[in-house]
Amino acid sequence: MAGHFSREQMMEMDPLFLRMHLRERVHHTVEHQLYSAIFAGRQLGPRFGAIAREILDVWEDRGLPRDLPDIKWIYTLMDLAETAKRGEKPEPPGGYLPEPLNPDEMKAWEKLLFSRRSYRHWDERPVPAWMVERILEAGMWAASGCNLEIWRFVVMQDPDILHEFANMEFEVERVKIVCCMDVRGYRDVDRPPPEKNKLLDIGACMQNMALMAHALGLGGCWSTFSPEQIDGIAKHFGLPDYVEPVTYLSLGWAAERVMPPARMSFKDAILAWPGREGGE
Ligand SMILES: Cc1cc2nc3c(=O)[nH]c(=O)nc-3n(C[C@H](O)[C@H](O)[C@H](O)COP(=O)(O)O)c2cc1C
Repeated sequence: MAGHFSREQMMEMDPLFLRMHLRERVHHTVEHQLYSAIFAGRQLGPRFGAIAREILDVWEDRGLPRDLPDIKWIYTLMDLAETAKRGEKPEPPGGYLPEPLNPDEMKAWEKLLFSRRSYRHWDERPVPAWMVERILEAGMWAASGCNLEIWRFVVMQDPDILHEFANMEFEVERVKIVCCMDVRGYRDVDRPPPEKNKLLDIGACMQNMALMAHALGLGGCWSTFSPEQIDGIAKHFGLPDYVEPVTYLSLGWAAERVMPPARMSFKDAILAWPGREGGE
């Protein structure tokens, strides 16, 4: 729960922060309740949707764009909320249940998942921008605590910049995707979400990006910066104080064949599983 801002504060707030706040409030005060009403027959309270409406009023009064993907989704949810408030049972447009992959799809998915590796040597071929964009898009579809979407990116593709921020442990890559976090949803609210969600969000985003890069045939390695490098990046790119570089994905066309570092067994990794179907 992120707490509350006055209308005056929201009228002055940076639009990207207001949008994060709106997504968080919609997530906690509309989305959960709406699906519970539609699919579990729960009653909606008298103030259902009111907080989100207040923020949307500010959004509209400030003339901020309504055609952004997340804002459009919020308007759709609010329409469904109105229908549900009237006691009707709306059908979420485009809503879907999870479906198991067919055997060929499962083969492809497992190939992708289990053959992703960390590569630290690359050939000279450049990585096209469209690939970087697909990778970023995959990152941005990761799960995100309170739907805050705190990830922000700096893409390094200029050889001089790549050299300046190189990881001394391996070759200079062709592209470096720096994953930063916008901490305002945690730092500037009176009731912040659990602190650890910040890094979990970035981790989820990074794993999605690593898998997409692998699906495109690129080889990459994930690593973290020293505090000095973090300061250097913030300075070089003029990042505001609420954007913190966290980690990065180095990418290129791999020039090494690596063996999979075999993983531990379940016996060592699973500490407890009471109630396991079939028993031990
Ligand atoms: C958070 C994180 C930080 C990492 N940092 C580095 C690093 O600084 N240098 C490096 O060579 N590899 C780094 N790696 C890659 C790991 O060494 C690698 O994932 C691990 O050895 C397993 O190998 P695999 O990725 O090929 O399965 C990092 C991985 C993660 C998830």
